[in-house]
Amino acid sequence: MGKTSASRKRKIVTIASPKGGSGKTTATRNLAVLAALEGLTVATVDFDRQRTLTKWWGKRPPECAPIIHYEVTLTDLEEVAAVAEIDDADIILVDTPPSVEDHAEAMRMLIDMSDLVLVATFQGGDDLDSVIPWMQYLRQTDIPAAFVLGGTKRRTISLEDAKRKLIQKGELCPIDLPHYEDISQAANVGLGIAEIKNAKGAEDAEGIWHFVRGRLAI
Ligand SMILES: Nc1ncnc2c1ncn2[C@@H]1O[C@H](COP(=O)(O)OP(=O)(O)OP(=O)(O)O)[C@@H](O)[C@H]1O
Ligand SMILES: [Mg+2]
Repeated sequence: MGKTSASRKRKIVTIASPKGGSGKTTATRNLAVLAALEGLTVATVDFDRQRTLTKWWGKRPPECAPIIHYEVTLTDLEEVAAVAEIDDADIILVDTPPSVEDHAEAMRMLIDMSDLVLVATFQGGDDLDSVIPWMQYLRQTDIPAAFVLGGTKRRTISLEDAKRKLIQKGELCPIDLPHYEDISQAANVGLGIAEIKNAKGAEDAEGIWHFVRGRLAI
């Protein structure tokens, strides 16, 4: 994984949130698919011992848009550092486990090499209590970070409340990813929502991808 001119151009997006089950892996795989469908060379990195992203990647049908995949052990700092050396992709999407505070050094290394950190969150009060201090921590670094709401229930008071609270604490992706059965069904067969015809949630995922692409200026 030697450094080349390509490695200087490539962008690293880390999806991280202290809360379990907050849509991190869902965001990672759907962004990876959209980037690949746009013709970018995409790598995904799985930092989570549960290997949810790796299992999804292993199910991808061979004819689908290609994604290069790496598994990294978060406790092995040499492996973490090697992510910065990945030079075979235009964009690298890194999925992380919950309880990021248990791996402070590795997470700090990963954040420092990132071009953007996405803080995935659901709309509930417990979720917000967890991600807001995490965003406060990220804002002490000079790495751009943004909240991305997922698993949302549209037209609910709690979603509007969540948006108002989050926007006070950091950047908020203007598009959220609603809770749709199609999204989990696509994941079960190794696909992103954009790969299913007329699926619910495809336009929302695409909106989030356009936000990420704009923030990365690619
Ligand atoms: N927009 C959505 N629509 C439908 N189901 C969703 C959506 N977002 C997440 N889910 C489901 O919610 C669960 C948790 O989502 P996900 O695995 O993405 O969260 P996570 O933050 O990666 O979890 P963990 O902390 O365990 O790694 C999964 O079963 C996933 O399929
Ligand atoms: Mg996950």
